[in-house]
Amino acid sequence: MLKLAPVEPENFNGIDKSCRFCLYWQTTGSYMEMMETLSKQKIEEMKRVWYIDTRRNFGDCCFLVYLSNVPVGFIQCASPEAFPRIVDYSSGPPNNDAVFLACLYVFRREMRRRGIGTFMLESVIKNLRQRGFGAIETFARKDSENNPSGPLEFYLKHGFKVIAEKDEFPLVRLEI
Ligand SMILES: CC(C)(COP(=O)(O)OP(=O)(O)OC[C@H]1O[C@@H](n2cnc3c(N)ncnc32)[C@H](O)[C@@H]1OP(=O)(O)O)[C@@H](O)C(=O)NCCC(=O)NCCS
Repeated sequence: MLKLAPVEPENFNGIDKSCRFCLYWQTTGSYMEMMETLSKQKIEEMKRVWYIDTRRNFGDCCFLVYLSNVPVGFIQCASPEAFPRIVDYSSGPPNNDAVFLACLYVFRREMRRRGIGTFMLESVIKNLRQRGFGAIETFARKDSENNPSGPLEFYLKHGFKVIAEKDEFPLVRLEI
C-alpha cells in the first residue's frame, strides 16, 4: 500500500542518504568540488536549513512515499527561485507561475517500472492542485532516467508538453 507524506522535521531522516546529503539544486558552480570541501554533517545541516526555509515560504516542498510504511521514494519541489542550480540548464529558466519539480526518485532500481513513480507524480500533483498551484515544470532527460526527475518518456506519458528544448534536458510542463 503506497502513501505520500510531506517531510516533517520528525521524518527528515527517512529521506534516503543520497538525497539527504545532496545540495545539487541548492547550489551553483562546480558541485563536485564544493562537495569535497564539506563534511556530511555540514551538508545535511545545510539541506535542513534549506528545507525549513523553503517550507516556511512555499509550504510542503519535500515528500516521502511509503510502501507498507517503508520509505521508497522522494520528491522535492518548490518555486523555481528555491533551486539556484536551474541556471545550468539551457532549456530554462522554468516559468515563475509553475512549481518546479526538482527531484522524483524511486530509491531502489529494482522497484522501478512498477507504477511507484506514477503514484508519486499523481499524488504530488493532487497535493499542489489542492494548494492552488496551476502548473508544474521540470527538466526531463531524453533517452535516460539518469536525471534528478527522471526520463522524458515518463513525463510525456503523463501529459507533459515540451516547452523549451535546447539540449538533452528539455523543459516540460503540465497544467494541473
Ligand atoms: C523517474 C522515476 C521516478 C519513474 O518511476 P517508476 O516507478 O519507474 O515509473 P512508472 O513505473 O510509474 O513508469 C510509468 C511509465 O513511465 C515511462 N517510464 C518510466 N521509466 C522509464 C524509463 N526509464 N525509460 C523510458 N520510459 C520510462 C514508461 O512509459 C512507464 O510505463 P511502462 O513501465 O508501462 O512502460 C524512476 O525511474 C526513478 O526514480 N529514476 C531515477 C531518477 C533519479 O536518478 N533521480 C535522482 C535523484 S537525485
